Amino acid sequence: MKLIGKLIGGAIIAAATMSASAVSAKDFRLGLITPPPHIWTKAANAFGEELAKESNGAHSVTVFPARQLGNEAEMLQQLQTGALDMAFMTVAEVSNRAKDFGAFYAPYLANDISHAGRILRSETAQKMLDQLPAKVGVVGLGYGMAGLRQIVSRGEVSSAKDLVGNKLRITPFEPILDFYNAVGAAPTPMPLPAVYDALANGQVDAIDMDAELIWVLKYYEHADTVVQSNHMMFPMVGLVSARVWKGLSEEDRAVISNLMAKHVDSTIDTYIAKEQGWLNQIRDTGKKFVAVDKSFFTSAVDQWNAAWAKKSPSLGPLRKVAADTAE
Ligand code: BEZ
Repeated sequence: MKLIGKLIGGAIIAAATMSASAVSAKDFRLGLITPPPHIWTKAANAFGEELAKESNGAHSVTVFPARQLGNEAEMLQQLQTGALDMAFMTVAEVSNRAKDFGAFYAPYLANDISHAGRILRSETAQKMLDQLPAKVGVVGLGYGMAGLRQIVSRGEVSSAKDLVGNKLRITPFEPILDFYNAVGAAPTPMPLPAVYDALANGQVDAIDMDAELIWVLKYYEHADTVVQSNHMMFPMVGLVSARVWKGLSEEDRAVISNLMAKHVDSTIDTYIAKEQGWLNQIRDTGKKFVAVDKSFFTSAVDQWNAAWAKKSPSLGPLRKVAADTAE
């Protein structure tokens, strides 16, 4: 009887140990919408490599770029159910579920790209991530970014009046929709992969885009005017499914937190270093290139600020950060 008891006890311990090690060794699936050569995708790959090294091969990360797992709204749903473990995602998409994050898109919140980086690295920005598990079902581990937003237009643009009534491609999220509505354009939500053809074939008159992609994906080839307006930052956030997070050990959480935060943050330095180079190359193509500031958009910026003061409690605190970190 004693022997049988010992055998059963041993079997239970062995089974428990096996399942513990099965949980602690994991191949995480990480999704993003950007193509393989994009800075965000490279950062995701680097995160996976470092996690494998730090965990002595216990963990690995399979990166699914270029919307292989669906668009960002679909990936966010997968994160909520635990079908997807991780994502590097636009804060734009997150702001569709947690409106407070719309504050980052306050037009001219940042004076330049380095200033945008300082705002994203602030304690206030970090604290905003605390609302994500309850509101969105994800854990936010840190921010990255793409460049500031610019406008590429098939037609001549000299003033914001030239954009009135134009079908202007936007990333699908509310803050940018509100901005271009205030400008008087006809904002047209469209995911990134659809943009090139839409601009080339005239389905849209203009696009809202960052300097890297205007240059690398050659959007400028289908434009008469590039407006360097720097009107908004474009943050990204490193996310883990809250369900998956619950199943991780404290030790794994610490390693994943540090490494994911480090690699998403590295994109901030990359954009700060490269933004001006892309803008120079776009300007040197000989296309009409106009550099404008807040005054170009006349009352649209104030209209946006008035609307979003009511929509986002974090707008005031982020403005204070912006004032404190301006140079
Ligand atoms: C966009 O929608 O314009 C975009 C999305 C992800 C990275 C960069 C740009």
